[in-house]
Amino acid sequence: MTAIDRIETLLDEQRSFPPPEGFRKQAHVSDPKVYEQAKKDREGYWADWARQLDWIKPWHKVLEWKPPHAKWFLGGKLNASANCLDRHVKAGRGDKVALIWEGEPGEVRRITYRELLGEVTRFANVLKGLDVKRGDRVAIYLPMVPEVAVAMLACARIGAPHTVVFGGFSADSLKDRINDNQAKVLITADGGYRRGSLVPLKVNADEALKDTPSVKHVVVLKRTGKDVEMRRGRDQWWHDLMKTAGDTCAPEAMDAEDPLYILYTSGTTGKPKGILHTTGGYLTQAYATTKWVFDLKDDDVFWCTADVGWVTGHTYVVYGPLALGVTEVMYEGAPDFPAKDRFWAICEKHGVTVFYTAPTAIRAFMKWGPDLPAKHSLKKLRLLGTVGEPINPEAWIWYHKNIGGERCPIVDTWWQTETGGIMITPLPGITTTKPGSATIPFPGIEAELLDGQGKVVPVGGGFLAITSPWPGMLRTIWGDDERYQQTYWSKWKNVYFAGDGAKRDADSYYWILGRVDDVLNVAGHRIGTMEVESALVDHPAVAEAAVVGKAHEMKGQALAAFVTLKEGKQPSDALREELKAHVAKKIGALARPDDVIFSADLPKTRSGKIMRRLLKDIAEGRTLGDTTTLADPAVVQRLKDQYEEKEG
Ligand code: WT7
Repeated sequence: MTAIDRIETLLDEQRSFPPPEGFRKQAHVSDPKVYEQAKKDREGYWADWARQLDWIKPWHKVLEWKPPHAKWFLGGKLNASANCLDRHVKAGRGDKVALIWEGEPGEVRRITYRELLGEVTRFANVLKGLDVKRGDRVAIYLPMVPEVAVAMLACARIGAPHTVVFGGFSADSLKDRINDNQAKVLITADGGYRRGSLVPLKVNADEALKDTPSVKHVVVLKRTGKDVEMRRGRDQWWHDLMKTAGDTCAPEAMDAEDPLYILYTSGTTGKPKGILHTTGGYLTQAYATTKWVFDLKDDDVFWCTADVGWVTGHTYVVYGPLALGVTEVMYEGAPDFPAKDRFWAICEKHGVTVFYTAPTAIRAFMKWGPDLPAKHSLKKLRLLGTVGEPINPEAWIWYHKNIGGERCPIVDTWWQTETGGIMITPLPGITTTKPGSATIPFPGIEAELLDGQGKVVPVGGGFLAITSPWPGMLRTIWGDDERYQQTYWSKWKNVYFAGDGAKRDADSYYWILGRVDDVLNVAGHRIGTMEVESALVDHPAVAEAAVVGKAHEMKGQALAAFVTLKEGKQPSDALREELKAHVAKKIGALARPDDVIFSADLPKTRSGKIMRRLLKDIAEGRTLGDTTTLADPAVVQRLKDQYEEKEG
């Protein structure tokens, strides 16, 4: 669906869903005055949240805003792992189950807060033994196993910022990320399970490690038992190191503004950006939003299906739920393995009460049909959430009906890697939801819709902007503050540019339309067109490439690549497949183009800029837009004819 089509369908959307009375009555928030209170004294409001955490030393100032740099809870000291673990154990909740983990092959592990603390403490000592000091970076390239949370929290315990790289990323992507932040240690596994086959994490890691001089030690978790090469003096097994690790390790007193982690995300140009999050503000927002948006109580079983390789996994698998002390489900594998009802089997088996997933998954469930969830008892579910991309109203209604049994509110949560936590969302006990709208900003968050000049658009379409600093905001781009200022703060003065287009209706509800830059959202994951173009041009047969997003039924957007070959190279189906595989190898399977279209020329303006808009029209089979600024209009027509021929 194009942005225009989307505005049109959304304009038609009239349905609304007030919170069910029963839900409202038991909710953490049932009185809309929280919005007013937060607005009246924003800093006091966030300080109240921060006080719900354990601080080693209190802060002396809530906010220092020297645009575009914010500091929150200045002078305060705390430790994120102590807040996620020690605090619950000390409060007598050590025997509460923190993680109910299910492996793809079917094994289940239940890990209490006390046990998790024990693992984290020992692993923190392992890291110290490998000479990891406060401030050193540690790279983590693991499957969705409890040890990924252990590794992250152990880093947090000793004050070493972690950088988690999604297991689906390639060796090259891993290498670039490690080199960008000079990680000293890499934590990986002998493999992971995905749809019944093995993901060769260690093989990829070895490939990356050929060119990552900063890495001195590699810790390898035995997950699959598959033989892997262990390099002497560099690689050691997780279980061997843990055998002798001490079981006390005092959490480091970290400054509220000390880095907690770096997580990479795609931008419009150049290499991925290392988004830097710090400790106090981030944890405060993670905690606050987990509590109010997901309305979690002591007896809830929360399941956020995101991989820890993405920010959703950082905030709503690790830091938010654990800081709150809830029981949560963690699942290693694919939703369709061994059958397409795996998620519903998991919900039933573990009694999931609050379920958070992505629209792309919901569209897949829709396609697989309502009989699959109907086979399972989903009676315990009481709240549903979505994140990652706009949810089409049909998918929302399907989710409401077939998963939520028409009784569960749905929270459509808008946020970004950069924002650290949820920004625009319903509060399930008070907000009347509308299918396709993320509704209004979380209390204490200030958003506006602006036009290019920075003028407020009260009702209508514009750019989504955040108008005051928030606790979980990124502090900078690792090693490139210039790019930080340029990307997020140069469009308007002292206002954060999110990069999304949106619409605001007469009730001041936001309807997020999608990216306005050259960033695509494929199955809820951001991919920069430039990154894919660079990967294509890296292939010896390719002279030039332009990548655009085209609407895709399941993935939201899919990639279409227009490629010009070097002199003497011939287009062929084999080369087309080779180029797709090349991108998957360079970046990861998630960036594999759906289409590769060979072309003698690419449509360019007279100044030589590739006109992606026209390519998108072609890829989506539309009549061509304005071609008057083209250097050679015939190029596009030829391309279009060729594309239509190929599509048949
Ligand atoms: C981009 C951020 C933050 C979690 C996962 C993605 C899109 C995110 C929504 C939503 C419409 C959404 C935006 C945003 N997005 N949530 N509820 N409705 N669009 O994190 O990779 O940093 O991507 O995802 O375009 O800018 P991310």
